[in-house]
Amino acid sequence: MAHLFSPLTLRGLTLPHRILVSPMCQYSSTDGLATDWHLVHLGSRAVGGASMVLTEATAVTADGRISPKDLGIWHDDHIEGLGRIVRFVHSQSSLAGIQIAHAGRKAPLATSSNVIARVRSLRARWQQEIAARGVEPARAAQLDQRFAAAFERLRAARPEVFAGTDLDPEANRQRMEALISRVEKIAASFRGSSASDDAALSPTTRLAAMLKEALASNTIGGKVDEGSRVRAAQDDVRQAQASWSRIGPVPEAVRRTLTDRFQRACRVIAEAGQPPVATPPGRGPTGGPGRTGGGGGASRSGGPSGAGRAGGSVRS
Ligand SMILES: Cc1cc2nc3c(=O)[nH]c(=O)nc-3n(C[C@H](O)[C@H](O)[C@H](O)COP(=O)(O)O)c2cc1C
Repeated sequence: MAHLFSPLTLRGLTLPHRILVSPMCQYSSTDGLATDWHLVHLGSRAVGGASMVLTEATAVTADGRISPKDLGIWHDDHIEGLGRIVRFVHSQSSLAGIQIAHAGRKAPLATSSNVIARVRSLRARWQQEIAARGVEPARAAQLDQRFAAAFERLRAARPEVFAGTDLDPEANRQRMEALISRVEKIAASFRGSSASDDAALSPTTRLAAMLKEALASNTIGGKVDEGSRVRAAQDDVRQAQASWSRIGPVPEAVRRTLTDRFQRACRVIAEAGQPPVATPPGRGPTGGPGRTGGGGGASRSGGPSGAGRAGGSVRS
């Protein structure tokens, strides 16, 4: 107590008295950035007369944080917010200190759910950046490959973290196969016969189509007409395409093969809604140029080894 108000010299630094503010985690940052909270929390201690104010444990790498809400100093973006606090603390004749930190193996960000959340957010940002910056396709494909390779290294190191999730390539391949067989079944019902059975449609879609039809003709139990059947099938395909576009990473070669199958099946259904092409005189029914269906739009991988925007849109 005798020394509390006497100066303290620490190497080249002399504090006028010994009332300092210890580092205290505030759990108030996003991506390590200092906020108004930090300015007020630390600034008000400087206003109160502390000779020195220390920031909370401030992470030197993102994965070295104690919690996801810690302050950070691993990126240039962190400088501005921290600098603002330092300037204010100095303006109050206090000294500003920083506790640089790395939580080592205790860093909780390495838990499964955090790894998945971080990879998901990185993939989303990656896809946005590539789209927003209008990266030239060949260059984008190269970058995608690097992203996919980095992701694959991570997945190989921690397979248990990704198993069964939307970031598990094998689970994604199975999701794609399931969508393909759904659309191929519908396509098969259109191939060869125009009014064949509608068994390939999902029960809900079939029921919806029947109800629509029954309401139109005011008879419950009426047969679904061809137009309703085509529209219902195309609704089903649109849903499948939306699900397809959300599927996460799969190996590029697998993605390409499965996308081809998916697009082919989508095209059959898109073409079922087109008026028949007039056969030119003197040519047989197979001699015409055929119709180009929707659902054919080739796409690049749609981001880091994503399923891509396969299938295009079905014309109704
Ligand atoms: C809310 C809170 C957050 C804290 N965060 C940190 C921290 O980020 N880094 C650290 O070294 N200590 C942290 N501590 C410990 C304090 O810095 C301090 O050492 C402890 O409260 C003991 O205080 P004393 O030295 O006045 O007895 C924290 C303490 C509290 C109460």
